[in-house]
Amino acid sequence: MNKSRILVLATGNRNKYKEIIEILELPDWDVKFLKDFPDVSLPEETGATYEENASIKAISCTKITNFPSLSDDSGLEVDSLNGRPGVYSSSYGGVDGDSKRNIQKLLKEMEGIPWHERTARFVCCAMFALPNGFTHCEKGIIEGHISIEPYGENGFGYDPVFVPLGYENTFAELSAEEKNKISHRALAFRKMSEFLRNFDYDNC
Ligand code: IMP
Repeated sequence: MNKSRILVLATGNRNKYKEIIEILELPDWDVKFLKDFPDVSLPEETGATYEENASIKAISCTKITNFPSLSDDSGLEVDSLNGRPGVYSSSYGGVDGDSKRNIQKLLKEMEGIPWHERTARFVCCAMFALPNGFTHCEKGIIEGHISIEPYGENGFGYDPVFVPLGYENTFAELSAEEKNKISHRALAFRKMSEFLRNFDYDNC
């Protein structure tokens, strides 16, 4: 196995790092965790789109470490809320990362909306950046519905209220293995893996 190229995953979340490494399956790359570089901290995500936020993370990571870098940004888009919470999914309920509040607010805003109008999607943008300024984005989308109540204990974020299309259970009722086969993140990083396998790194 030739692991000659270093790639830094621009996330401070070890679970996300492990999940993405499994999806990527890149034998030619030595994929490092951001926390392997103790002095690196990522700037605030101030972008108005997933692409902007993912770029902010990947570009600053590649500038600080001087290695190629990979980041992601994702969110939940609900049709009856005109695409909200979208890029602001994490702080929708008022406290950043408080999933319980986020879900409570979402279900309250959607009170009375019938099932067929509860359509939603998770979107993920995976971003690759090189120290020379080159960037490349891949997107993954999974369509579904927002349930009337939360169900299930697995996963994180909005998993207890997201029922993927073709399923009867929420993401939080699926095993991590099942979710990671179909999730927006898996789709985006599988496409990114394909891109990196064919990428002419030496001539870029
Ligand atoms: P991030 O950009 O991956 O950190 O995601 C931003 C926010 O979107 C998270 O804090 C969650 O609220 C929501 N989110 C993204 N992906 C998922 C998922 O797979 N399940 C549930 N919520 C998610």
